[in-house]
Amino acid sequence: MNADDVQLHESYEYEGVCLPNDVLRSTMDDLKTFHVRQDDVFVDSFPKSGTTWTLEIASAVLHDGDIDALNTTHNFERGPFLEMTVGGHQNRDLPRTHKMLAEAPMSSPRLIKSHLPVQLLPPQVWKKKVKVIYVIRNPKDVVVSYFHHYRLFAPRDNLQFDDHFEMFMEGTNHYGKWWDHDIKFYQRRHLDHILFLRFEEMKNDLRGTVKQISEFLGKSFSDEILDAITDHCTFENMKKNPMANPDTMIKEFLGKDIPDGQSFMRKGIVGGWKTSLSKAQSKALGDVCREKLKGTGLSFDDI
Ligand code: A3P
Repeated sequence: MNADDVQLHESYEYEGVCLPNDVLRSTMDDLKTFHVRQDDVFVDSFPKSGTTWTLEIASAVLHDGDIDALNTTHNFERGPFLEMTVGGHQNRDLPRTHKMLAEAPMSSPRLIKSHLPVQLLPPQVWKKKVKVIYVIRNPKDVVVSYFHHYRLFAPRDNLQFDDHFEMFMEGTNHYGKWWDHDIKFYQRRHLDHILFLRFEEMKNDLRGTVKQISEFLGKSFSDEILDAITDHCTFENMKKNPMANPDTMIKEFLGKDIPDGQSFMRKGIVGGWKTSLSKAQSKALGDVCREKLKGTGLSFDDI
């Protein structure tokens, strides 16, 4: 595969939601009847909200804190991306992730990553009430992180931040309107099978988050195991771990090295938007955010 095969930037609309071309229409159709197993664990989010991080914690928990076992396989394989077939639009015979998932051994719970909004997830997720961990992040940090994501995956497109920002404001970027995505899960946050997390709280108390995810997944770990998972999942340790850092796989997808200074594991901080958004952009996004979230109970700091 090479960079031109990767169609993560080009888009089409599926049931009113803008999706990347590599999320194939036929895959989306198949997901309506995707067989969900009762012990499946989904990690879902609007892109750039902390999905990879949450997935790494959940994966470590499902491995009972056995970090050596974890490090034998890349995060992308431990938690396959349900709807995505990178390069699949250009190479129709590439194996589809959802079909490979169907062949996973029954003995261990499947950990599944998705960015699909509530209404596009496989219906059995809701019917069978399987566990879903949903993570949310301040949209001001999301819009900045998302821009760097596109630059990493589609450097040839020469995307300008101001254009990207406008799309985010209108909700015409991939995976649709971020406020719809967030609100629909926020409304389900009290369901027993949903764990609703915030990037900012994970950052503030990573060990507490590890404990929370462990309990949600039915595990009760010693302090030693909780510490080991916490240490494994810090930004610094994930960045230097080739089995947790997505750069390893991105290089493979693009068939070349990532330019110096760029990385999927970019900053991993709260409030980084303050040095990226103009005053006018910060105000405009704050206004849209307050308007869209009005009456929902959902809010973000610094908005
Ligand atoms: P930045 O671009 O702001 O650095 P996703 O996995 O949903 O695409 O989210 C990616 C964002 O999560 C990136 O944000 C990335 O750096 C951050 N991230 C990944 N692992 C992290 C960790 N262990 N701690 C803090 N942030 C992390």
